[in-house]
Amino acid sequence: MSRPKHIGILTSGGDCPGLNAAIRGVGRTAINDFGMKVTGFRDGFRGLMQDRTIDLDREALSNILTLGGTILGTSRDKPHRMNVGGKTVDMTDAIVETYHRHHLDGLVCLGGGGTQKNAMRLVKAGLNVVTLPKTIDNDVSQTDVTFGFDTALGIATDAIDRLHSTATSHNRIIVVEIMGHRTGWLTLGAGLAGGADVVLIPEIPYDPAVVAEAIRARTQRGKHFSIVAVAEGALSQTDARAMAAAVKRRVKAEEKKDKKEVKAAREEISRLAEVEKHSTLRVTEQLEELTGLESRMTILGHLQRGGTPSAGDRLLASRLGVRAAELVSEGRFGVMVAARGEEAVAVPLEQVAGNRKEVPADHAWVQTARRLAVCFGD
Ligand code: F6P
Repeated sequence: MSRPKHIGILTSGGDCPGLNAAIRGVGRTAINDFGMKVTGFRDGFRGLMQDRTIDLDREALSNILTLGGTILGTSRDKPHRMNVGGKTVDMTDAIVETYHRHHLDGLVCLGGGGTQKNAMRLVKAGLNVVTLPKTIDNDVSQTDVTFGFDTALGIATDAIDRLHSTATSHNRIIVVEIMGHRTGWLTLGAGLAGGADVVLIPEIPYDPAVVAEAIRARTQRGKHFSIVAVAEGALSQTDARAMAAAVKRRVKAEEKKDKKEVKAAREEISRLAEVEKHSTLRVTEQLEELTGLESRMTILGHLQRGGTPSAGDRLLASRLGVRAAELVSEGRFGVMVAARGEEAVAVPLEQVAGNRKEVPADHAWVQTARRLAVCFGD
């Protein structure tokens, strides 16, 4: 392959702090050190499909290091399942066409777990792709950490610190919902750093009675308040069992090609997912009832993804972004740039796509929390 001259770049999935720092890292290195032209595609894979671009010259890349969000815009669109005119259509061919229309030598995709899978699909469709791992959830496999996480961790920790005031002044239980549908890194990290008394995460299904018992024990020790940090996707043991059974039922039905049974299992999964959406409110009410303590719920939501990136995220995003441009210049594609200690390592996308990084039961943070008498409800 001749020296890469023109690259595309896009951001996909939920926005997070550090995306602009990463765009700047890729773009500046590509332009200054390797003499490439850099074209940004707007709104993730949708903009690539529709060929909506922004010229990322030196001017466009200046003054963006500290900006939150993404100057390119983002979406959760998938190349192979895009909503076009109300129908779900495979738009991979249109994306490949845009890539060739611009005579791109490579495409850098910044995103979380879903983006890694979509990037892998584009590699299979013949495109030269390098990815970067971003998400406040920190659940992308093969990398020590994702950019966005450190900032969100700071925001969620600060929120827990502030919630302590009301919890102690009113002798209340405050249940704080922290983002993370599938993994509990943010809740565990912020819970530990903020001194939460209870941490509920998807990887460790909880029993409300166990949580209530831990809170009652605190009351007996003279602590009349409690902070419960709960991940969006944390499930009670009962709900987790029901979900696992429904998924098993769907897999079996799919194997047997029993359409009616697959439909029924899918409906059951959707029903349980709907129940899951309100689980923080439910656990707040359950704890009030079981302990007799007044309980309140706070949902941090998108506050955790907003605003200026932390210094740690700026450093990480810049470091990985620069490495992505170097890999493109070396003609190394089909890889994600992973953070491994101080190194930025190229990992084959096959090892990343479809593999979520969950909190291991014996992770140092879990062990530390248990030593510090944090209740996980198990
Ligand atoms: O993936 C990041 C994340 O913030 C998750 O923590 C959260 O579950 C999800 O995105 C929310 O997505 P949206 O902003 O599309 O509602």
